[in-house]
Amino acid sequence: MSSHAHVVGWGKYVPQRVLKNGELSELVDTSDEWIRTRTGIRERHLAEDGETTASMAFQAARQALEVAQLSPAQVDLIIVATATPDHLFPSTACLVQDMIGATRAAAFDLSAGCTGFIYGLSVAANMLSSGAYQTALVIGAETLSSITDWTDRSTCVLFGDGAGAVVIQMGENKGGVLAATLGSDGSGGDILWLPAGGSRMPTSQQTIDQRLHFIHMKGREVFRFAVKVIHEATCEVLQKAGYALSDLTLLIPHQANQRIIEAAARSLNLPLEMVYSNVEWYGNTSAASIPIALSEAVEKGRIQTGDLVVCVGFGAGLTWGAVAIRWTRPHSVPVSLSRRALRRLHYSLARFRSRLRRLLRGLFVIWIKNGWNGDQRRHE
Ligand code: UT7
Repeated sequence: MSSHAHVVGWGKYVPQRVLKNGELSELVDTSDEWIRTRTGIRERHLAEDGETTASMAFQAARQALEVAQLSPAQVDLIIVATATPDHLFPSTACLVQDMIGATRAAAFDLSAGCTGFIYGLSVAANMLSSGAYQTALVIGAETLSSITDWTDRSTCVLFGDGAGAVVIQMGENKGGVLAATLGSDGSGGDILWLPAGGSRMPTSQQTIDQRLHFIHMKGREVFRFAVKVIHEATCEVLQKAGYALSDLTLLIPHQANQRIIEAAARSLNLPLEMVYSNVEWYGNTSAASIPIALSEAVEKGRIQTGDLVVCVGFGAGLTWGAVAIRWTRPHSVPVSLSRRALRRLHYSLARFRSRLRRLLRGLFVIWIKNGWNGDQRRHE
């Protein structure tokens, strides 16, 4: 991909409500100790009444647009990756389009399980590179609590709700989204799935009684698959981009389980400091996990201009994929002043004005005192 689609904005949103491991042990036969040692998760955020995938996606998108200093009308394309849309239709992307007022944008949802954000970023970067669009919002958002079986200890301890978003924009500078690799293996569809509610098994009293509207997962199989594809997709995307593992600054894997993250780091021979992890605080938020982690990594200063970042995901489908990003600005700003530079100049001038005022005030006080003393002396 000879693309120059750059990440110019990022944002994340998680609900206020926090569910700690201890509270789960009141629901099912589990313990804080088991959850922490087997998954690395301490707590997760759950949507409150009225919060939905679209409303969380909206919050993350709004933040990303603020960072990018763009107005909603400048967005041409919105992709929402989710396995938990507000409705089967209309798409969650259309709901977000309306909420933010992106009056010029095309909008659609994308279903690729936990790899959804990687698929979305790759699709959006290609659509931008084709010249058809200039600016895209790519969002990963999930309300997994709505499809979690709160009586199944093997899954309910894992998942959380939230949303992450990036704004990508075309620019003449080299860098941005350098390469992507995407994969699928539908033969593994029943390793991780939501059996009912679609056209094959429409909702009925029987599907409800059999708890077929919840996540069903063969955890160990997903675990093995995950470690394998994180390794392969990371190496492949770096090779496509023309780089080696030694050039990498930060790997951002899908946040499913700390043991998966550590096993993948070992298999890639990467020190853990180079592999971003926040699964401890959010659990597995599926398609939202990578954009949440990416936004957090930028906010924490873990990603700087010039860095080479790989985001890698795996999930239901089965699907997997990775995107290599050179963290650069889309445009050079040597001649015209950027907005940020203008703001800095504005604050410098304000500081200068206030110092000048203080100085003048000081001089005035000295002058008054001297004048007064002079008058006194003259009277004496
Ligand atoms: O986004 C992609 C989606 N999912 C994933 O990435 C998940 C990938 N898989 C995993 O993270 C892990 O396989 C799990 C965390 C789901 C499970 O960990 P594990 O080490 O693979 O455990 P296991 O399934 O082999 O189960 C070990 C034991 C079993 O008991 P027995 O049969 O040995 O007596 C389970 O019944 O742990 C039991 N167990 C639990 N015990 C306490 C399963 N869940 C729990 C629990 N609390 N919550």
